[in-house]
Amino acid sequence: MTENLKNNLLIRAAFSQPTERPPVWMMRQAGRFMKEYWDIKNRYSFLEMCKTPEIAADVTMLPVDLLGVDAAILFSDILVTGEAMGGQLSFEQGVGPRFANPIRSYADAEALRTNVLDKLQYVGDAIRVIQQRLQGMIPLIGFAGAPFTVLSYLVEGGSSKDFKRTKLLLHNEPELAHIILQKIADVTVDYLNMQIAAGIDALQLFDSWALALSWDDYEIFSHRYNAYIFSKLQRNGVPVISFCKGSSVFAPLMATAGPDVISVDWNADLRQVKDNLPGGIAVQGNLDPFVLYADKKVIKEKILHLFERMRGQDGFIFNLGHGIMPDIPFDNVKYAIEVVREFSY
Ligand code: CP3
Repeated sequence: MTENLKNNLLIRAAFSQPTERPPVWMMRQAGRFMKEYWDIKNRYSFLEMCKTPEIAADVTMLPVDLLGVDAAILFSDILVTGEAMGGQLSFEQGVGPRFANPIRSYADAEALRTNVLDKLQYVGDAIRVIQQRLQGMIPLIGFAGAPFTVLSYLVEGGSSKDFKRTKLLLHNEPELAHIILQKIADVTVDYLNMQIAAGIDALQLFDSWALALSWDDYEIFSHRYNAYIFSKLQRNGVPVISFCKGSSVFAPLMATAGPDVISVDWNADLRQVKDNLPGGIAVQGNLDPFVLYADKKVIKEKILHLFERMRGQDGFIFNLGHGIMPDIPFDNVKYAIEVVREFSY
């Protein structure tokens, strides 16, 4: 797949090869800040959208057609692995994701299934439909949730502000936590290898809530499982991006897990992060998504400042430090992408 791409800026940057300008895509680029997303969302539930390949493809293509990004990202969610393993998942408007049967005991953990690829075939089907639509124009990014972040939803039963139950589990019952994490990691390996076989061009592992952890707990309960996953991928030229909120702290450890790219939150100076990484590891990021609420003049200044900091650096993918919020003006997102596309070093 990858060698036939018309626009392979993202792949080159991910492998730390020279590019004329940084490639751009944005986390949550297919979402509620777009009127066209709501036109579809008003007719189907979120999970119906994910599980119907033609609809998932329609939504994946929205930012490609309307924004001119340098990469598409599969329309799905990180929690579909948890659902396939036995979690009763729903997404309610205004509530967010919910697992109705949270994991609280050894019996719950033992009941989690691990041979679940048959339940995730709709994702492979969506990838094939999207690739037919993309026609090699730009790369398609596949993804999965990292074991720690998926565990946090399975244990809390949904989103959490403080991850109290999750941390209680890690601290009081670490053996139980490791059983759950290993099961999620095994499913994630199968799931990502299936996505590669179905034709994705790059992969991102989302460990969104790693920031909740101390350095030691991150190492034991998150990093080790991410490293295990990366070591088991049949990559075939597919670059791997490792994202977490907390990457400004954890980047040196993340680098040892074997990713090609580290996606950095907005707290750190991206150049400093890059300078402290081993050669050959690219960075992605790291504009504060809240900048996209600001005046266009400010948006441009902040992007150009970041590009100035990254001058002379191969291995840089422009992105936000986290996802686009639903109420960010569409025009501002489009403008930010134009600023990047018109830039050249
Ligand atoms: O980036 C993209 O455009 C691709 C699609 C994508 C979604 N979720 C669609 C989605 C991706 C890559 C994700 C990943 C995801 N899902 C993460 C990791 C990224 C991150 O933001 O840290 C997380 C933590 C989730 C879990 C999740 N899914 C939450 C917490 C929520 C509800 C809160 C929220 O932001 O809406 C979702 C729902 C969800 N996933 C929506 C979309 C478009 C909104 C669904 C709706 O229309 O109501």
